[in-house]
Amino acid sequence: MSAPASDHGHEPTSFAFTQENLELAQRIIAKYPVGKQASACMPLLDVAQRQNGGWLPRVAMDAVADLLGMPRIRVYEVATFYTMYNKNPVGKHHIQVCTTTPCWLRGSDDIVHACKKKLGIDLGETTADGQFTLGEVECSGACVNAPVVQIGDDYYEDVAPEHVDGLIEALKRGERPKAGSQIGRRSSEPLGGPTTLAAFTTQADD
Ligand code: FES
Repeated sequence: MSAPASDHGHEPTSFAFTQENLELAQRIIAKYPVGKQASACMPLLDVAQRQNGGWLPRVAMDAVADLLGMPRIRVYEVATFYTMYNKNPVGKHHIQVCTTTPCWLRGSDDIVHACKKKLGIDLGETTADGQFTLGEVECSGACVNAPVVQIGDDYYEDVAPEHVDGLIEALKRGERPKAGSQIGRRSSEPLGGPTTLAAFTTQADD
């Protein structure tokens, strides 16, 4: 397996953690038993990605490997397995539509279509102004409120195509749209409220 590389021609030649992030990395590493530092690989890749504007160049993966004393190939394996790590630059707002079966059954194709139409880009592309990247991901782990769209660190759930325009316009205005169910569902309760243990739930609310 060769080192993963960007196909956008933006691969930098060096990466170093800022002092602040280096201290954060050391605190993360200290959570794990001596000799098990490799367990910090995923959170450190996340720190590196955030420092680098939302994506992980190979040199950032190398910096994580060197810090943890891991073979670089092991870090490449982790970074290329998970979609949360972006191997190419992304826009300011990374919109990731879940298109796995539960979301697909609940209309994720229509959400993808609405995003494409609104942004004028295809999956895997970034708008010319660098504001939005559109992608699709496998199960986001919130199927109970499918369909789900992740934007940055926020999950938008029970999304319908008609929500897309409002979400994107709010982001353009610099707002952070309210995350969670877009149709007012509380947590992951059934629509219309609890259907079991209703008396207990009423008591708990009192
Ligand atoms: S299938 Fe979309 S969140 Fe699980």
